Amino acid sequence: VAQKVTQPQPELSVQETETATVACTYDTSWTDYYLFWYKQPPSGEMIFIIRQEAFKQQNATDNRFSVNFQKATKNFSLRISGCQLEDAAVYFCVLS
Ligand SMILES: *[C@@H]1O[C@H](CO)[C@@H](O)[C@H](O)[C@H]1NC(C)=O
Ligand SMILES: *[C@@H]1O[C@H](CO)[C@@H](O)[C@H](O)[C@H]1NC(C)=O
Repeated sequence: VAQKVTQPQPELSVQETETATVACTYDTSWTDYYLFWYKQPPSGEMIFIIRQEAFKQQNATDNRFSVNFQKATKNFSLRISGCQLEDAAVYFCVLS
């Protein structure tokens, strides 16, 4: 069975200071896995944001970033609170 992630939003606009929700759903036959969010700003480097363990009973959070991880529906959206100009980037959802 293929492991895959789906990011349904081609793009997302928010005002500064608002909260952005970047959607991701995934598909896997694994029971043990990690999910990640990375961002790629216009400068091009790939920057790690946050990691979720599938067996963790708590949503990962770090500073202005948090996830809404719902294992039952394989939903792994990223929330960015207090959006700033520096958040403008391409966001990658990763399953590993
Ligand atoms: C993450 O938060 C959402 C919304 O509050 C909740 O429904 C979900 O169960 C949480 N996931 C985990 C793994 O705690
Ligand atoms: C996944 O999460 C997003 C954002 O929280 C929500 O809008 C969507 O309905 C959820 N999808 C499923 C299948 O639970």
